[in-house]
Amino acid sequence: MTLLFKSYSSSENDEKKKKKKRKSIILNSNVGFLVVVLLIVFLSSLLPICVLGEKRRQKEQQKNLRFGPNGEFKILQVADMHFADGKSTPCLDVLSSQVKGCSDLNTSAFIHRMILAEKPHLVVFTGDNIFGFDSTDAAKSLDAAFEPAISLNIPWTAVLGNHDQEGTLSREGVMKHIVGLKNSLSQLNPLDAEFIDGFGNYNLEVGGVPGSSFENKSVLNLYFLDSGDYSTVPSIPGYGWIKASQQFWFQRTSTKLRREYENKPQRQKGAAPGLAYFHIPLPEFASFDSSNFTGVKQEGISSASVNSGFFTTMVEAGDVKVVFTGHDHVNDFCGELTGIHLCYAGGFGYHAYGKAGWARRARVVVATLEKLEKGGWGGVKSIKTWKRLDDKHLTAIDSQALWIKRSSGKAS
Ligand SMILES: *[C@@H]1O[C@H](CO)[C@@H](O)[C@H](O)[C@H]1NC(C)=O
Ligand SMILES: *[C@@H]1O[C@H](CO)[C@@H](O)[C@H](O)[C@H]1NC(C)=O
Ligand SMILES: *[C@@H]1O[C@H](CO)[C@@H](O)[C@H](O)[C@H]1NC(C)=O
Repeated sequence: MTLLFKSYSSSENDEKKKKKKRKSIILNSNVGFLVVVLLIVFLSSLLPICVLGEKRRQKEQQKNLRFGPNGEFKILQVADMHFADGKSTPCLDVLSSQVKGCSDLNTSAFIHRMILAEKPHLVVFTGDNIFGFDSTDAAKSLDAAFEPAISLNIPWTAVLGNHDQEGTLSREGVMKHIVGLKNSLSQLNPLDAEFIDGFGNYNLEVGGVPGSSFENKSVLNLYFLDSGDYSTVPSIPGYGWIKASQQFWFQRTSTKLRREYENKPQRQKGAAPGLAYFHIPLPEFASFDSSNFTGVKQEGISSASVNSGFFTTMVEAGDVKVVFTGHDHVNDFCGELTGIHLCYAGGFGYHAYGKAGWARRARVVVATLEKLEKGGWGGVKSIKTWKRLDDKHLTAIDSQALWIKRSSGKAS
């Protein structure tokens, strides 16, 4: 009996001990769970801080993007460098007398000369920056392609073309590399977009003259988009296009900027003018002929075979006044359709196809602020453009006004 009792009591004790143990395990696992939860809460509280930190870094980088004291902001567009391996990469479509001693280095020399001649506030590279097929190392090609802007200490941005990813880096890899380079104001994608197609969709705000009442306002909105490479839809042949997700982001950003422009300080009516940069021309580029464009059209318009509606989206938004693309190297015209100018830059790079005897070229755009009667500078008054040829004197051609604010005090 005693033995039985003993054994019973011991088993009871065991049971109690086990319960205790279980309890402590439960307690421990509760504590463990709590620690994990706290850790998750802590880490997720860090996430917005990281995002904010990133936002702050971008804002910081952008701070210098302002109109100069002369009331001007100038952008140099470099389209289709097709950079590969530098000195060993030959030039295409040059005169037979120009073949010898011609390489990617001529492309670099042209950027260098253009920057010194125009002293732009920003250089925008509109895709096919490198020609992936002929590049041994995409990262090295990118470094070399942007080197002139970097060494001359000019802020610059880039978007992707359809050839940038054909080397050793993916589209995402190329864009990430571009974002990380010195003086690059490029961004991988907007931080406020949950999902967006492509890589290198972002916007930049250009502030008014330092010390003026517009110094903290974006008076010129710059949009950069990834126009893709090739269609991935089997039933649609040809090039890529600007997708709905990108257009939603553009709409949201344009609306936000308009709201800010119309708000304090210095409330304005309507939106500040905008410029959009991407690689592949929109189907609307085919709306012109020599009777209504400035420049030349020497080849077809290689847009996507479908129209994804981005032109209409921009017309509706109302702020974009000019679209700048590349892609078709021997077209360099600007034409206006329903209030938006569609402009090619013309081919820049020597390892890109071109036309022998037809000089490589670049497009310049300058926005000028309105001089206020009471002194100081107002919003943007006019937008002008011209091109320069890579000849002895960097000859300027096809100068034209793209947009002029309709009446003083009101933006059109
Ligand atoms: C390329 O650069 C070399 C070296 O400066 C120069 O001699 C040559 O004329 C350039 N070629 C072209 C087509 O500009
Ligand atoms: C712009 O922002 C700076 C820094 O916040 C501030 O000191 C300055 O007064 C602002 N300028 C105007 C015109 O609001
Ligand atoms: C340009 O002119 C042609 C006729 O020469 C016309 O068909 C076309 O619609 C015009 N384009 C625009 C955008 O006005």
